[in-house]
Amino acid sequence: MSKTVKNSSRKAAPKAKKTTAAEAKAVVDHIVSEAVAAAELTNAQLIARREAAVPRGVASAAPIYAKYAENAEMWDVEGNRFIDFVGGIGVLNTGHRHPKVIEAAKSQEDHYTHTSFQVVPYEPYIELAERLNALAPGDAPKKTLLVTTGAEAVENAVKIARAATGRPGVIAFTGGYHGRTLLTLGMTGKVSPYKKDVGPFPADIFRAPFPNARDGITVEDAIIGLKNLFLTDAQPSRVAAIIIEPVLGEGGYVPVPFDMMQQLRDICDEHGILLIADEVQAGFGRTGKWFAIEHSGVVPDLITVAKSMAGGYPLAGVIGRADIMDAMEPGGLGGTYGGNPVACAAALAAIEAIEEEGLLARSLSIGETLKSRFAAIGTRSAPYRFWDIRGLGAMVAVEFVTDFDTAKPDAAFTKSVVAHALKRGLLLLSCGMHGNAIRVMVPLTASDAIIDEGLAIFEAAVQAAVAEQA
Ligand SMILES: Cc1ncc(COP(=O)(O)O)c(C=O)c1O
Repeated sequence: MSKTVKNSSRKAAPKAKKTTAAEAKAVVDHIVSEAVAAAELTNAQLIARREAAVPRGVASAAPIYAKYAENAEMWDVEGNRFIDFVGGIGVLNTGHRHPKVIEAAKSQEDHYTHTSFQVVPYEPYIELAERLNALAPGDAPKKTLLVTTGAEAVENAVKIARAATGRPGVIAFTGGYHGRTLLTLGMTGKVSPYKKDVGPFPADIFRAPFPNARDGITVEDAIIGLKNLFLTDAQPSRVAAIIIEPVLGEGGYVPVPFDMMQQLRDICDEHGILLIADEVQAGFGRTGKWFAIEHSGVVPDLITVAKSMAGGYPLAGVIGRADIMDAMEPGGLGGTYGGNPVACAAALAAIEAIEEEGLLARSLSIGETLKSRFAAIGTRSAPYRFWDIRGLGAMVAVEFVTDFDTAKPDAAFTKSVVAHALKRGLLLLSCGMHGNAIRVMVPLTASDAIIDEGLAIFEAAVQAAVAEQA
């Protein structure tokens, strides 16, 4: 990487130096062109090298290779600029290279980068645990375990729930996504591409129906389904935990109705089952609260966190009631890298940025903008194709169908919108059980101007996809 890229940061942006927007753009253009010239790489070269060196199972949604990124913008190795509505799959609520996050990580790197918390512990881990314990909903005392990935957090939440209850069973939901490790794949409720050809999965994992308008499943139906599961397969006194995403992530950005969440809480209390909220994608401001479950007023027993917690660094965790979190023997939890100090410092800075910059409120206003603009774009540019526009806060998705009469999911149209958007400089990512939804994970730090620009490209891409199908 060229020196210029390394040394650049949002600190050089217009506000700090009171330069004009055009001057700031010239600075970034210069940085990017220098970086591109130094790299002398093309996307095509990297695609060829990647095909030879990386297994095809690690798919990439965009055929471009990153060179430089700042807040909600990214440049590829050829110098092409993209507005980023994906944020590394919901990791960048505070944007690419937030100055506070970078500064905190660099300062930590100047002291030590790894000791393994299990050998020589350090304060950033404890400070972050204290912050998370205070942020999590509910009055009971809490404790936090830090790990590295979302799947690892989910695995550990299950281990902790089993140790605390002495029961093996776990209930997850249709369309839920909890990771790609073998235990979490057992909980992930979507076969292709995640579970295809890699079973069998661990025992004692059961699936209940998720309340989803697309499938005509109401909250009442979902609760009947869960209660039937207790009668048919999952003896409730042998169930350790029910795990649910308060807003389905990969499954299509479908929020759990609040009364469903309350009923789950009641059912858990009735049977001594622990309620785990998987907030890996929905947490840290994406929905306008620290944790999406807070919208329902329900207090879970355990919360899994990752992604936007650390502003781009690999860090995850389980936050939970102290008595439950202490169920496992010393040495039963952890891992060599768990709670890496650089990632902890980054997370503390990201949390501070969310607070200082009012990003919870910003999420709500971005969410309103997205919903109203999507509705207008649908009416104007693709009538009867935007079947549903939904979400909580800025965790918004739009679902495409062939027509409103059949409401048939249109994955081909969705793919076409994503491809046309990329060609025009907007990064988008699809989701949903039928691959026919586009979710927005734009940094909450993005300016109105950037969001506007992204939405204008989105509309042009929708028009191009309509024209292609005509
Ligand atoms: C809700 C949820 N849980 C767990 C995971 C797994 O996280 P990771 O990819 O960090 O293992 C994800 C990832 O997208 C997720 O969205």
